[in-house]
Amino acid sequence: MNYLLIFSSRFGYTHKIAQRLEAQWTAAGITVHTISLNEAPQLNLGDYDKIIIGASIRYGHYAPKMTSWIQQNQHILDQTPSAFFSVSILANKPHRNTPQTHTYTRKFFEKSTWQPDVIGIFAGELHYAKYNLIDRYLMQLVMKLNKGETDLNAHIEYTDWQKVRQFGELVLNIASKN
Ligand SMILES: Cc1cc2nc3c(=O)[nH]c(=O)nc-3n(C[C@H](O)[C@H](O)[C@H](O)COP(=O)(O)O)c2cc1C
Repeated sequence: MNYLLIFSSRFGYTHKIAQRLEAQWTAAGITVHTISLNEAPQLNLGDYDKIIIGASIRYGHYAPKMTSWIQQNQHILDQTPSAFFSVSILANKPHRNTPQTHTYTRKFFEKSTWQPDVIGIFAGELHYAKYNLIDRYLMQLVMKLNKGETDLNAHIEYTDWQKVRQFGELVLNIASKN
């Protein structure tokens, strides 16, 4: 079994989650090819038994590059067992942490013709020190509006790693499409 795991990450946190999943699947005997979306155009997608895409949210949207990559590769994605995971801060809210209640993801898949077999919604990282001045203050405003952490020294990982593991299990169990 051979999985392709593509991540779209701005500050490396989606990559970190991807590495955790890679370790889980490798331990289950799968060969996992983990790669940044920036390197994905060179791949032969037909070589993989399952394709998993992970992406972070920035100002309410996934990277446009990821959206167009999905559109361009729709045909092969439809034929291959596939999964998607979303990484964002607001997914740390209990009422926003499922594919139906996480508005960004729900809206994304309402428009998308690609429908993955499994969707994971994960809370990401807040690390003001990594952001440039404008992003730092805009993120602080987002956090304030959502009654979250506004201390600019904060570095918090909101991820529920057990939930990541459960997603990993669901992906292992996706049936083949042959
Ligand atoms: C500039 C910026 C904008 C963000 N916008 C949102 C947002 O609109 N909604 C949200 O829930 N999280 C938002 N986040 C939080 C990120 O999705 C979160 O930090 C995630 O862990 C980033 O993952 P990455 O390092 O893989 O890009 C934003 C973060 C930054 C730095």
